[in-house]
Amino acid sequence: MKLNNKKTRVRIEGWFHPEEGKWYQEQVKKLSNGWIVEIGCWKGLSTSYLASVLIGKPQRLWCIDNWKGSKDQYSKLYRELLEQHENDGKPVPIQFRKNLKKLEIPYKMLEMDSQEAVSYFKDKSCSLVFLDASHDYLSITTDLKAWWPKVHRNGVLAGHDFSNDHPELIRAVESFSKIWSVPLKRGPRTIFYFIKP
Ligand SMILES: C[S@@+](CC[C@H](N)C(=O)[O-])C[C@H]1O[C@@H](n2cnc3c(N)ncnc32)[C@H](O)[C@@H]1O
Repeated sequence: MKLNNKKTRVRIEGWFHPEEGKWYQEQVKKLSNGWIVEIGCWKGLSTSYLASVLIGKPQRLWCIDNWKGSKDQYSKLYRELLEQHENDGKPVPIQFRKNLKKLEIPYKMLEMDSQEAVSYFKDKSCSLVFLDASHDYLSITTDLKAWWPKVHRNGVLAGHDFSNDHPELIRAVESFSKIWSVPLKRGPRTIFYFIKP
């Protein structure tokens, strides 16, 4: 997995392309009511794209991450990176919080598993749920199924890494589309999304 660096006034390492960031930002601009929920934030690179839309506005963003690694093929990489940053005295959760503070993004954090966090949200309370956590078949299937009821009408359930590097994610997303009879839409690069009818 190639790490991207976003060169803004805050330099953040992560896995999110600027074209995807622009798309994410546009969605948040368009969808005015309801919570925005990002699941899988790492150090805040994807989140950072929301700065220009959210700064100075009432709090709408929830960030969810367990910072414990993942359940997909990258679990070893995450564990090694988490340990390395812990040993360097720069734990990833602290870097995330510092980055968001520097960017002045208003947000609330749930430092827990996606499946635990979902119970904090009422049905139809979210305008955008963005998934970028574990990319294995079971995690994606479970996340899509659990978060779909939380999205309100015309809201968006989206995610990252719809690419050949993540065949299990593709399979889970396509199955969800078929089972729930909801058209699968694609954004730039590896973005996928569903609009709630
Ligand atoms: C691909 S990274 C996210 C990258 C980030 N969006 C960026 O822009 O760089 C995946 C993140 O999901 C988190 N994660 C994985 N499985 C999770 C789960 N079940 N619940 C909560 N967080 C999870 C990991 O701790 C990691 O920070």
